[in-house]
Amino acid sequence: MEGIFWWVIVPYLTLAIMIIGSIYRFTHNQLSWVAPSTEFFEKKWLRIGSPLFHYGLLFAFVGHVMGVLIPLEFYHMFGISDHMYHAFAIYGGGVAGLMVVVGAVILLIRKMTIDRVRVHATFADFYSVISLLIVAGIGVYITLIYNTTVVEYEYRTTIGPWFRSLFTFQPQYQLMTGVPFLFQLHIIAAFGLFASIPFTRLVHFYSVPIVYPFRAPQQYRSRSAFKRKGI
Ligand code: HEM
Repeated sequence: MEGIFWWVIVPYLTLAIMIIGSIYRFTHNQLSWVAPSTEFFEKKWLRIGSPLFHYGLLFAFVGHVMGVLIPLEFYHMFGISDHMYHAFAIYGGGVAGLMVVVGAVILLIRKMTIDRVRVHATFADFYSVISLLIVAGIGVYITLIYNTTVVEYEYRTTIGPWFRSLFTFQPQYQLMTGVPFLFQLHIIAAFGLFASIPFTRLVHFYSVPIVYPFRAPQQYRSRSAFKRKGI
């Protein structure tokens, strides 16, 4: 029964809140569908923290596709051994995860300590950064510390198939009951984060972050470069 609650009810409930809440916000309050920039209030730390955090998240996302969405058999078909996979996951995932955590810590300290940024930050802004930090912090801990000191846990035979089974509406919750606690905590915290998306500035993630680095240089432009061009 406990397994059904955590690995069937919580995922579907939080994903429903995320989807219905996001549709509601998009249709009823589209003007709020933004992550208002605070660059105007402080630039130096934002230019370090923001790219670190966002690129780290993008790399970690690719890692999650590789570890959770792609089945283990796929790797075996191409001769990629479990050892090769885990070595790549630890080094690649470790770097990505550290980028996310360091970036989020910089952004959080900036929000807390720089007066002009703090007064414009809402409760929801703090909530998003702190919960991202908790989810990513546990993720980095399991990737770098747990995997190397306790056991190289093979989540591709438990977490992966369970996560995919949610999308075929035949949730195999039994697969999750024996998973190490820290992995469980990481995932439940992630679902909590998903449910909060419609109520925070995290909605901007739907708006194709892939184009973010290629957008018009409206923010982050260097004053000196524009001076040189005589603008
Ligand atoms: C339900 C969704 C999620 C599942 C099933 C999941 C699963 C996992 C697993 C199994 C690992 C360990 C990887 C390894 O040891 O090689 C991991 C690591 C990690 N997770 Fe998640 N995760 C989820 C959501 C998230 C979210 C929303 C974030 C965003 C903050 C996140 C951030 C991380 C980070 C930074 C790491 C460490 C680096 C890496 O392996 O990418 N995870 N996650």
